[in-house]
Amino acid sequence: MQWAVATYDTAFGYVSAHGAPLLDLLDPQPDERVIDLGCGTGVSTADIAARGADVIGIDESLEMVNAARSEHPHLSFAVGDAHDFTISEPCDAVFSNSALHWMTRDPSAVISRVHAALRPGGRFVAEMGGAGNCAELIAAVQTAWRVFGLPEPELPWYFPTPAEYATRLEEGGFVVRLMEYFDRPTRLAECPDGAADWVRLYAPELIAEVPPELAGPLLDRVNELAAPALRRESGWMADYVRLRFAAVRKPGGDELVQPQAPPTPHTPPGPHPSQPPHAASAAQTPPAPHTHSAPQA
Ligand code: BEZ
Repeated sequence: MQWAVATYDTAFGYVSAHGAPLLDLLDPQPDERVIDLGCGTGVSTADIAARGADVIGIDESLEMVNAARSEHPHLSFAVGDAHDFTISEPCDAVFSNSALHWMTRDPSAVISRVHAALRPGGRFVAEMGGAGNCAELIAAVQTAWRVFGLPEPELPWYFPTPAEYATRLEEGGFVVRLMEYFDRPTRLAECPDGAADWVRLYAPELIAEVPPELAGPLLDRVNELAAPALRRESGWMADYVRLRFAAVRKPGGDELVQPQAPPTPHTPPGPHPSQPPHAASAAQTPPAPHTHSAPQA
């Protein structure tokens, strides 16, 4: 995914505008060690640091991390993929705002990495798009693509139901303490051309696959289709649906639900699957004086 870094903070302004309840849910304490996973340009990372926690922002996009570093030169950031990041020492909390739905390759792998990064009893507090997120926008895209005779677009997001994500968390060794699922209609303040701009901003890869001469008419059709549900006199709205949760890594950490396998009495003992041998290694971006580290992508 190539991000429009220059417009990220304004275009994604809703992220920080709605971020306060999530930060309160995290309730970072002075000197706690916290990871901001999918930190983007570091807005939430700075909010967490302002509460006195020792925080590192991790994002898989080098452009985002570079922007975060120049916006917040006193904070620590590292490039890393949430599917396989490791840190040098377990931390107290992992926070993530509006990022997990972009991590589509293997959501359980992300949960497993978060589990490995946390100390037993550590918290995983996050908000992401939930099932039905952007349903009207997505329906307009799918219909427009069909009308133009294009193949079904492959959407770059993962929007789980609360039950599905809670199950993944439990299978990943967490106790789910809170799971909220709610509508949050959101003004598309930075999308003057409405749903068409939303597609340009959030799913440029879909347009890149379309013959260039079709892109304009196709996006006009997206706007026509989405307008009845999403255009108001005051401007365009996005039909966001949020999943917000707080989960705790089980004390002891050995209670992962594993597929049942027949006993293998002669197998020598090995590392627990949630604690691979490299879990305390990988330190390519040492942002002093912070003690966290994460791999470069
Ligand atoms: C979201 O934050 O829910 C979101 C934003 C853009 C595209 C898809 C989802």
